[in-house]
Amino acid sequence: MTDPVLSLSALTRDFGPFRAVDGVSLTIRRGSITGLIGPNGAGKTTLFNMVAGTLKPTSGTVSLNGTDITGLPSEALFARGLARTFQIPRPFRRMSVLDNVMLAPPAQLGETVFGALFGRGKVAAEEARLRDKARDILAFMTLDKLADQPAGKISGGQMKLLELARALMGDPSVILLDEPAAGVNPSLTRTLIERIEELNRRGTTFVVIEHDMDFVMRHCDPVIALAEGRVVFEGSADEARVNPLLLDAYLGAPA
Ligand SMILES: Nc1ncnc2c1ncn2[C@@H]1O[C@H](COP(=O)(O)OP(=O)(O)O)[C@@H](O)[C@H]1O
Ligand SMILES: [Mg+2]
Repeated sequence: MTDPVLSLSALTRDFGPFRAVDGVSLTIRRGSITGLIGPNGAGKTTLFNMVAGTLKPTSGTVSLNGTDITGLPSEALFARGLARTFQIPRPFRRMSVLDNVMLAPPAQLGETVFGALFGRGKVAAEEARLRDKARDILAFMTLDKLADQPAGKISGGQMKLLELARALMGDPSVILLDEPAAGVNPSLTRTLIERIEELNRRGTTFVVIEHDMDFVMRHCDPVIALAEGRVVFEGSADEARVNPLLLDAYLGAPA
């Protein structure tokens, strides 16, 4: 593949004697919305955790834009344009929606030694800039009316949109979405899909873990399937649609 944005090579993660991800090698095409599917326990979230820096691989490598990023912490990756959302949103529940978005950048000026060096004026200016940016992102995600609500008071679906809003504060070129539509009502799911596709048109690459096969088939190409920690299918959405293995695993059986 020419110009992959992400390359995983023999990525492996053990939990004690159990191998959750077993030698996964794959590339993610720049500009794609790649679907990552597989039954519960297949290792999808563990794979995301290793790519996004929340879990160190037992072995194997990850590279982003051709640079080895294996084992770098999530803050460092966020700064390099790789962001992720969590399967279970975890906002700071008592803080406002706006503050949750503003807190997304890992090293805000006011909280670093640079804050002391730059002085209060610079810190205030930086905070104002972050606030404006967070408000713009909330408007884009249709959450602007909820900006001052405590994040714990918004619906589960709105929390999923908030997750994506937080990710956008890093101006990411790659976003990993872990089950973005799970438990989200159809109207908010539509908003989410529209926003994903709009960002994708502007150049953002997405990797999306999703169980909703309708979502995957309509919006993801290519599709990669994991089972028991290994890649068992890689192909276009059309190929996935007629693949007997996937038919048995997903389309023929109730979820
Ligand atoms: N921190 C952990 N400690 C031990 N086992 C884990 C841990 N995280 C995940 N696992 C196990 O690894 C396997 C893959 O989990 P996960 O990546 O969450 O799967 P998926 O997201 O595909 O449902 C499961 O069997 C799960 O129980
Ligand atoms: Mg998972």
